[in-house]
Amino acid sequence: MVGEGSMASNIPSHKEAVFRVHRYNPETKKKWIQEYKVPVYRGLTVLDALIWIKENLDPTLSMRYSCRMGVCGSCGMLINGMPRLACQTQVLKLLEENHSNVIEIAPLPGYPVVRDLIVDMTRLIENHRRIMPYIIRRDKKEVDDAKYEFIMYPEEHLQIYQYSLCIMCGLCNAACPVFNSNKKYLGPQALTQAYRFIVDVRDAGADKRLAIVANADGCFACHFAASCSAVCPKAVDPAGAIQKLRRIALLHGLKLWRKKKVSPVAGPLEKPLRQVKAEYPKHNLLPGVDPEQQAREPVDIDFKEEWLKE
Ligand code: SF4
Ligand code: SF4
Ligand code: FES
Repeated sequence: MVGEGSMASNIPSHKEAVFRVHRYNPETKKKWIQEYKVPVYRGLTVLDALIWIKENLDPTLSMRYSCRMGVCGSCGMLINGMPRLACQTQVLKLLEENHSNVIEIAPLPGYPVVRDLIVDMTRLIENHRRIMPYIIRRDKKEVDDAKYEFIMYPEEHLQIYQYSLCIMCGLCNAACPVFNSNKKYLGPQALTQAYRFIVDVRDAGADKRLAIVANADGCFACHFAASCSAVCPKAVDPAGAIQKLRRIALLHGLKLWRKKKVSPVAGPLEKPLRQVKAEYPKHNLLPGVDPEQQAREPVDIDFKEEWLKE
């Protein structure tokens, strides 16, 4: 929390922020930067500001959003040079970081721009599909004609919990230098999900997935700069997942790794399964995740009284 006497007390008192928005018109192929002045109030997010611009200043401004609450993953954009979710980014926090009332908004890098702040996420979706993001069973009927669930104990769920929080916003891919320079690279989002399914005790598709990810355009292309983890809004830690995936891929290549266990179908239960009490991580954190990144949220600013006045 930012308290009295901290950096927050040095924030200049802005009643207005200037949004410098990178625009693109696909019909004319014209690119330009357009400035908008937006009144700032406590709690205003970048997405709120962009919607305000669209409703009050310029209906032609285009951006993508849906949930407005950090769940759908559709409002990713480059905000002051960093990939972030617009709906989770507080305008006052940005002003505090920059000591300036100018906020630069551009489309996410790594994806073709469709219009203004909207990018084409096909590469994200296709790479996600390639790693087969679903439970694969040796007996296909167990999935196609499922009558009962597969057994997964809480401590087994903990192995995948953090990685299953991905909302497919694509910020990690946008922050990744390899994803931006190598068009064939699967990217941190898909590789993390490959790891998530490979270690899922209900899944028997590890060999199939490793055939897709254990190569020079898969997990071995990662430089482990960890910028993907630094920008992930859900503390998924893709860089950590990729390192674990690399270890499995290397050992698998040497025939020193194979799936230890694939859980059975539960079947009709006459008595409840073994009860296990698992301690779920606080704030979605598992060991290895950067707590400073998590500490950035929720945003809590020591507001100046005059900001709140009309
Ligand atoms: S750790 Fe790997 S995937 Fe993440 S940003 Fe760096 S190169 Fe990309
Ligand atoms: S790993 Fe994080 S940054 Fe990457 S797509 Fe998932 S939620 Fe977004
Ligand atoms: S609008 Fe859904 S994550 Fe931002």
